[in-house]
Amino acid sequence: MRSILILNGPNLNLLGTRQPEVYGRETLEMVESACVAHAKNVGLKAECLQSNHEGVLLDAIHGARGMHGGIILNAGAYTHTSVALMDAVFSVEIPTVEVHLSNIHAREEFRHRSFLARAAIGQICGFGSQGYLLAIDALAQKLSLQDGAN
Ligand code: DQA
Repeated sequence: MRSILILNGPNLNLLGTRQPEVYGRETLEMVESACVAHAKNVGLKAECLQSNHEGVLLDAIHGARGMHGGIILNAGAYTHTSVALMDAVFSVEIPTVEVHLSNIHAREEFRHRSFLARAAIGQICGFGSQGYLLAIDALAQKLSLQDGAN
C-alpha cells in the first residue's frame, strides 16, 4: 500500500483548545485518526507526525525519501517564514500538499505569503480539518496517476 506522511508544525498540538473560533474544536489526535481512516479508504497508509521544532520537521521531510509517496504539510507559522522548509520540499521531490485549517489569505497580511506554496503541488486552506481529507484525495489521485504512468 502506498504511504503518505502527514506533517503538522508548531502549535498544532494545541488544536481543540487553541483559538477554537479560528482552528475548530477538534484535537490533533481526532484530526489524525480521521486522516488515517480516510487514507485507508482510498488505499493509502498515513503516518502522522507533529513537531514544534523546525529541524525535526526538516528531518521528517528528508526521511520521507524512499518511505512515502506523498506529504501533507501544515507547517503552521513556519509556512510564512521558513525558506529551509521550502528548500527541503524542493529537495526531496515528493509531491507535497500544503494544508491550512484557516483561510490564510483572508487573515493578517503576514499570513498571505507562503514559502511552501512555491514547492508544493497545491495548497488547500480555509476548510478546517476537512482540508486534510481533501489533500489525501488529491494525493491518492496523483499517486494513482503516477502508478498508471509506470
Ligand atoms: C495555520 C495558519 C498559520 O498562519 C498559523 O500560524 C498556524 C496554523 C492553519 O492551519 O490555519 O499555526 O497553518
